[in-house]
Amino acid sequence: MKLEWKQINELYPVNKQRIWLNNCGTTTIGNPQRDLLADYLEDYSRNGVFTEKYSYPIIKNEILSILAKLIGTETRNLALIHNTFEGMSFISMGLRLTSKDTVVLLENEYPSNYYPWEFWKKEGIKIDFIPMQDSPEAYLNAIQETITKLKPTILSLSPVHWCTGLSLPMKEISSICKQYNVKLILDGAQAVGHVPVETEAWGVYAMAFSAWKWLLGPLGLGVLYVSDQALDELELVFKGTQSVVGDSEYLPYKSEIKASADRYEYSTSGYVDWIYFLGSLRMLSGIGFDEVRSRIYELTRYLKEKVNKKAYTTTHDNLPEMKSGILSINPKDGQNTSELAFLLKSKGIIFAERMNRVRVSPHIFLLEDQLDIFAGYLP
Ligand SMILES: Cc1ncc(COP(=O)(O)O)c(C=O)c1O
Repeated sequence: MKLEWKQINELYPVNKQRIWLNNCGTTTIGNPQRDLLADYLEDYSRNGVFTEKYSYPIIKNEILSILAKLIGTETRNLALIHNTFEGMSFISMGLRLTSKDTVVLLENEYPSNYYPWEFWKKEGIKIDFIPMQDSPEAYLNAIQETITKLKPTILSLSPVHWCTGLSLPMKEISSICKQYNVKLILDGAQAVGHVPVETEAWGVYAMAFSAWKWLLGPLGLGVLYVSDQALDELELVFKGTQSVVGDSEYLPYKSEIKASADRYEYSTSGYVDWIYFLGSLRMLSGIGFDEVRSRIYELTRYLKEKVNKKAYTTTHDNLPEMKSGILSINPKDGQNTSELAFLLKSKGIIFAERMNRVRVSPHIFLLEDQLDIFAGYLP
């Protein structure tokens, strides 16, 4: 049966108030998540943590099973954390880098994929940046060149650039990393749910991502993927109550660390967020993640055509095959981006101003009519 996107649109009350085009920034809640939360809270008000209907191990297993399938791994390689920064820091700290190590990043990575590496500068590690490029092929060439020249220990990048929406040829990049024995670490915040991610097939060492973007989950919930190799090698910097085998018994203190990635769920979790996330994942997996991605690209292409018709250029103009849900609109000659942004905000459009462009990112709860309205406001 052909999915009725109108029905999904009706599940998101925000559509009555605003045109929410900042889904690669933050998203808002739909009725399926809100209803699931309401049911959970009702049960919690009666039973607290002794709820049977929402038993935490079962909830967690359902969340991780959906995610493991989505990113090509096993549930034992996943942990529910709080945000990308936290996950990248667990990985970076655990690597115990020294002055012999070089880390390669892309220019203008989001800070959550920079500060965890900057930390090691005091130990003398080198951080090299691959300059911004205007096509996936140009990125691939630049990455190949840098890796061949520097033979770094680590390449840590976001498969989709958060400012331009350019998505990278990850299969090819991962082959180069394998060939030169470079640890490939991903900031998956802009990738998971938005572009295909194959952690094990690509030999990803570790990846962290946030739940509240393309996965439509709650703010402050993140996910960490840790490969088997990384589980063996990384030092566990934050050993907490829940990092150890036998964690339900607090005393005596334990020494054996859990074999799976949930050693990184070091202490009590935010269960309310888990329920919200489960509601989102049930909805998205029910539709099918392939279908979701196709719809995001379809909406973005539609938006691009509308914007081009109003004589604006975008970051995708020379890339007709680009599969991305992030489109950045250049101001016209002599136009002031902040004034344009002010105008759009006054009309109830939610978007972000990034690198002197207007960045828009639709998700499946939007319809073409809303994109027409947005384009209609462009002077
Ligand atoms: C590439 C990228 N990484 C990470 C994040 C979010 O980082 P965190 O999960 O640490 O808040 C964003 C948010 O915009 C992003 O664009």
